[in-house]
Amino acid sequence: MLSDKEKKGRPVRSYVIRSGRITNSQRHAIDKLWNDHVVPYSGELLDLREIFNNRLPITVEIGFGMGSSLIDMARKESKTNFLGIEVHKPGIGKTLNDVELYAIKNLKLICHDATEVFQNAFKNKSLDRILIYFPDPWPKKRHAKRRLIQTEFATIISEKLKIGGHLHLSTDWKPYADHMVSVLEKVPHLKNAIAQNSFWENPKRPETKFERRGKTLGNKIWDLLYKKE
Ligand SMILES: C[S@@+](CC[C@H](N)C(=O)[O-])C[C@H]1O[C@@H](n2cnc3c(N)ncnc32)[C@H](O)[C@@H]1O
Repeated sequence: MLSDKEKKGRPVRSYVIRSGRITNSQRHAIDKLWNDHVVPYSGELLDLREIFNNRLPITVEIGFGMGSSLIDMARKESKTNFLGIEVHKPGIGKTLNDVELYAIKNLKLICHDATEVFQNAFKNKSLDRILIYFPDPWPKKRHAKRRLIQTEFATIISEKLKIGGHLHLSTDWKPYADHMVSVLEKVPHLKNAIAQNSFWENPKRPETKFERRGKTLGNKIWDLLYKKE
């Protein structure tokens, strides 16, 4: 069933904000570290070179959850700038704590709906890599429109990638994996980097928290890799 807000024409979001469940440590990190590491979203174009104060390649992770994969990558790839987009405050707090703990310099966060950030904040052909690991699967048919991967958003993502840039996605929900393939194969200038309609068998990426949960339930994992041409 659609909620009353959705029926009244409000945007259909790919997430639900759940209140509560933030720890003292996460709240403390938000109070103390937000201004240093979270980039304010205003609806205006961002100057990523100025934000990172260098010209290194830029990877954006959408929906980084509790941030374990993002922190892992930022620590290993010191010559890449990472920008994580997430709406879940406990995840932002946990990631800020880890940024401080490991003294990470090449990572910034945005706390806002990624669909709006991509529409308004990035220049075309400005990003080297976009990662979407285990987006909410919205398994019920009536919720399918809430899935992040839709033709319109995928087309915007493609526009923001530099030529030769990559889009890497993963999911443990086969119907969503098939949906991603059917949408992405038709996006202009995106080419399946493995082979047409194919998944990536041995993907290079850290294991995520959501993935670990899926694996303990016995779920298989599907990765997809697309290149901007
Ligand atoms: C299923 S969780 C996966 C988290 C993490 N990638 C992992 O694999 O552990 C999906 C995450 O995407 C975030 N998310 C969903 N839609 C979003 C959006 N439009 N903008 C930013 N974050 C979003 C949710 O808040 C949630 O934390």
